[in-house]
Amino acid sequence: MKNICIMGTGYVGLVTGACLSDLGNKVRCVDIDLKKIRILNDGKLPIYEPGLQELINNNVSRERLSFSEDIKGSIRDSEVVFIAVGTPSDGNGNVDLRYVEGAAEMIAQNLNDFKIIVNKSTVSVGTGRRLKEIIDDKSSGKPEFEIVSNPEFLREGSAINDFMHPDRIVIGTNSEKAFDIMTEIYGSLYLMETPFIKTNVETAELIKYASNAFLSVKISFINEIANICDKTGADVHVVAKAMGLDGRISPKFLHAGPGFGGSCFPKDTLGLVQLAKERGITPNLVEAAIKVNINQRMVMVEKLKKLVPNLKGKTIAVLGLAFKPNTDDVRESPALDIIKILLEEECIVRAYDPVAMDNAKKSIPELNCFDNMMDACEGADSVMILTEWNELRQIDLNMLKERLGSPNIVDCRNIYDPKKMKDEGFNYLSVGRPLLKDEFNAVQV
Ligand SMILES: NC(=O)c1ccc[n+]([C@@H]2O[C@H](COP(=O)([O-])OP(=O)(O)OC[C@H]3O[C@@H](n4cnc5c(N)ncnc54)[C@H](O)[C@@H]3O)[C@@H](O)[C@H]2O)c1
Repeated sequence: MKNICIMGTGYVGLVTGACLSDLGNKVRCVDIDLKKIRILNDGKLPIYEPGLQELINNNVSRERLSFSEDIKGSIRDSEVVFIAVGTPSDGNGNVDLRYVEGAAEMIAQNLNDFKIIVNKSTVSVGTGRRLKEIIDDKSSGKPEFEIVSNPEFLREGSAINDFMHPDRIVIGTNSEKAFDIMTEIYGSLYLMETPFIKTNVETAELIKYASNAFLSVKISFINEIANICDKTGADVHVVAKAMGLDGRISPKFLHAGPGFGGSCFPKDTLGLVQLAKERGITPNLVEAAIKVNINQRMVMVEKLKKLVPNLKGKTIAVLGLAFKPNTDDVRESPALDIIKILLEEECIVRAYDPVAMDNAKKSIPELNCFDNMMDACEGADSVMILTEWNELRQIDLNMLKERLGSPNIVDCRNIYDPKKMKDEGFNYLSVGRPLLKDEFNAVQV
């Protein structure tokens, strides 16, 4: 059992805090955003993540998990401090390290005893070294401390399961003592023979970037194949299934759609490109994946234009705003990018999402949101399905047809069967799946 302080109560920090306390550690979570700490101390959550509320309640009641406004005291009382703060992109591809560096300064000012400082935020290679410099500088190097890079691979929406059943745990450190303490913290996961990758800090940092870039390339690859399917009559579902059965390829991340989003892939691919360029390397493959991804938003709008040729003044119902199901996170969400294009085209957008509407409105304040999916569809010239929420897989199609102005659907997540939709009387387009043969030629551009 270790005394741990987690800096940052966002999607990663909260899940890390809750899970590490569940593994038997004594965890205190802090945040510079005191509103979040107050919400947590009121027994609520500042984010939506399935299962997290129960896990937190359980560990708070066992006095293994707490939330504190006292950042200094929480650092001083802990042997291990995790940094799980945001690392947004600065817009030019550079990682904005202001929060990570701010956390390091706070740690340096409160370094009262030997501490392990664990960076969980996704950062460029060399950041661990930079953290050491900052803490050395601001604390005169006394008492001693060790830096560990422990990147996080959880996915929002299934974060607890991902944290508790990881494919691997990466520990980047040159210190045996730090490694031993990390294995103690992860306790049963270490004993259950979860693969632990023990390496240096720089390698651990690059593993995270390389993993996210690889998955992004995979998504852009299948989207490019889907676009070829659209022009040839091939079916991307069958192509992806057959590809995925090849053990060298694997079926994961081969789902065609509107392109990747979220708080990680877009910024981490840009971060890797920047890192490579700074060292004189042109990262052609990752750059291409980013380009395909940006273009994929337009491919979806072009599909809509096949059903609704003149978008100006037309009403489009957007179903799904979160970048993926089971989260309220809309950062870099394809839905928001597409809505912005539709608004530029002077469409009237009516939106619905089960949990992400408040966050979406922070990004697009003028967005017209509806508490009920059918109300969002009222009189619309077309529906666009942009997040594959289970709720959206079970739409009452008869009612939908009654509420729509025109029975047009662009299913950007391929959650309906094209034949069934035609039989139900919809003009239906999806991504990389053939229309019925007679229609194929008709929609070719
Ligand atoms: N969200 C994911 O799915 C995911 C997955 C793996 C890795 N990551 C990485 O983890 C990091 C955190 O991501 P997130 O989505 O949890 O971010 P987030 O924006 O949800 O949360 C970050 C939190 O850190 C707080 N913070 C900033 N500076 C602080 C400080 N000095 N002390 C205490 N708190 C501070 C912010 O107020 C905020 O609440 C990022 O580097 C991200 O790339 C995210």
